[in-house]
Amino acid sequence: MTAIDTSRTVAVVGTGTMGQGIAQVALVAGHPVRLYDAVAGRAGEAADAIGARLDRLVEKGRMGAGERDAARARLVPAVDLAELADAALVVEAVLEQLAVKQELFAELEKIVADDCLLATNTSSLSVTAVAGALRAPGRFVGLHFFNPAPLLPLVEVVSGHATDEETATRAWATAAAWGKTPVRCADLPGFIVNRIARPFYAEAFAVHEEHGIDPATIDAILRESGGFAMGPFELTDLIGQDVNEAVTRSVWESFFHSPKFQPSLAQRRLVESRRLGRKSGHGWFSYAEGAARPGPADAGPEDAPEYVIAEGDLAPAAELIGMIREAGITVRQEDEDKGTRLILPSGGQLVLADGQISAEFRDVVYFDLALDYRTAGRIALSAAAEVQQDTLAQATGLFQALGKRVSVLPDVPGMIVARTVAMLGDLALDAVARRVASAEDIDTAMRLGVNYPLGPVEWNEKLGRDWAWELLANLHQAVPTGRYARTLGLHQWSYGSPLEDAS
Ligand SMILES: NC(=O)c1ccc[n+]([C@@H]2O[C@H](COP(=O)([O-])OP(=O)(O)OC[C@H]3O[C@@H](n4cnc5c(N)ncnc54)[C@H](O)[C@@H]3O)[C@@H](O)[C@H]2O)c1
Repeated sequence: MTAIDTSRTVAVVGTGTMGQGIAQVALVAGHPVRLYDAVAGRAGEAADAIGARLDRLVEKGRMGAGERDAARARLVPAVDLAELADAALVVEAVLEQLAVKQELFAELEKIVADDCLLATNTSSLSVTAVAGALRAPGRFVGLHFFNPAPLLPLVEVVSGHATDEETATRAWATAAAWGKTPVRCADLPGFIVNRIARPFYAEAFAVHEEHGIDPATIDAILRESGGFAMGPFELTDLIGQDVNEAVTRSVWESFFHSPKFQPSLAQRRLVESRRLGRKSGHGWFSYAEGAARPGPADAGPEDAPEYVIAEGDLAPAAELIGMIREAGITVRQEDEDKGTRLILPSGGQLVLADGQISAEFRDVVYFDLALDYRTAGRIALSAAAEVQQDTLAQATGLFQALGKRVSVLPDVPGMIVARTVAMLGDLALDAVARRVASAEDIDTAMRLGVNYPLGPVEWNEKLGRDWAWELLANLHQAVPTGRYARTLGLHQWSYGSPLEDAS
């Protein structure tokens, strides 16, 4: 199926933040673009704002002046919906209210030709529901752009229950022709990104609420060990706590209050007290003038142990063994089958976070998962109060000898990066099993839509198919709320059932 020809008109209805961005994308791709907004004068203002953005592209040398002038001439504000009659595609970006969108599309259907594609940019409404009032809902599709649309490459192409395959493939091809990276997904709450990203925030907030660990330390661990560009606390301060919480609540409510998506009480308090983040001057952190940003908790220097005994190959943290040797610490390798732990000279053990608590065992310190132990700047350790001081000091000294900063946490099952990556994988595989999207599209969406260093499926593949399964089984036992109950998708994947692609 080919993309809509650039000679054909694209109409954008609702010319706020998203409408302007989408119009700019279609315009730069070469289409004539018509703008319409319910508020008189706003479409004209939007055309001026888009024109000003094109001017800046010319100033930066990213667009020729002739190209800008031609694009500007193709951009036409409309005063009446009837002026959209010759559109080959209408993208709607109006208020996020079902009745408003339904009414608009019912009107549009009377105006445009039968082969005109109708698309909604909704983030949280059901595409099937928005199409509910249409006579011919087969030509209706979700085209979910991300803000700012001209810059972010991801577009989720959402098929509602009535969307024709031809409509979805044409919309996909058109987004691709516009230079975007479209992914296909089914019409389930949160589509791909807004659904699968929930644990990134929720696990960090839960560790903060349940274990009293400060936001700066959790952010630093997810950044410096997990490889995420920003931690969840600083990121939600940037997004706005109200905006982030609204997405969480919408997904949670749409899934009939599933414990998997349960919102955070601590975040609720922020929203209620209007501590919305950067925009209000205070969120998890203060942005008041002169306010010092708290730093993460760093353990003081400790001596490295002279030797460690490795039981097993330490997979999926196997690279640590070579790194320890390179640091001049003797590694005595014991029977490969015996387990996956390091025994320290104190007799205590150092074990990769597996969802259990240190207090259940004698003298065990857990260390957190890292995206890449070589490049990680920080490693978190977690220990029960009963752990010997020597064991904790030797564990700290060991990672410091590898050049890492160390954050010592209380006894947190699944720690921080490990539980986050396991939960992201669980939700991603659940979405694959439910035919929301293919594993490949989910990985692409999470890398492009929220900038994850690896897609959740490929990340879990790298860790081994039973890794998340075992970690979540232990977490579920430690915290039996249902939040960590493993999904059918994870089950099928862990046991090697072939997963069919949704695409
Ligand atoms: N802002 C984001 O980050 C983002 C990201 C992805 C998707 N979305 C979705 O995009 C849509 C628009 O969001 P936004 O942030 O651009 O909103 P916005 O408030 O910036 O703009 C909405 C525009 O729609 C106009 N409008 C309202 N009702 C209308 C109607 N019946 N007919 C024509 N115009 C009407 C308003 O006058 C306004 O100009 C929403 O569905 C939202 O969920 C937003």
